Amino acid sequence: MNRKQFIKTCGIACLGTSTMSALLQSCVPTQSIMAPISGGNLVIAQSSFLKNEAFLKYLVVRNENLQYPIYVFRFSETNYSALYLRCSHQGNELNAYGDKLVCSAHGSEFSNTGQATSGPATEPLRSFPVQFDNQNILISLKKA
Ligand code: FES
Repeated sequence: MNRKQFIKTCGIACLGTSTMSALLQSCVPTQSIMAPISGGNLVIAQSSFLKNEAFLKYLVVRNENLQYPIYVFRFSETNYSALYLRCSHQGNELNAYGDKLVCSAHGSEFSNTGQATSGPATEPLRSFPVQFDNQNILISLKKA
């Protein structure tokens, strides 16, 4: 194998690896749970983020009284974001793909902090304050 063939082979291998990685990441099923509302808070057991002795990056949390689910992203043990999965463009429900939220209606994308990263949406997502008690994550719906 000469130098040109080696570089070509390595380039194809790198492209294949990165493509497969992206495909596999998009195939990971979304972790969705139901959670109760108590005292104006959506109450999520902190243990809900534990799976196979590792922490999940995020959960999609539903309650029958909420029109849209809430995406809860875990940055660290004490730092979470909680975002309403309603597109700020025209109100379609968003889908979570890891740390990215995507609207299937017109293609807008949002970050795990709720900022619009790709249009047509320009406004951020509605977010909720996150607090903690001994064993739970409390998503305050009072400002909602
Ligand atoms: S409703 Fe989400 S991009 Fe239009």
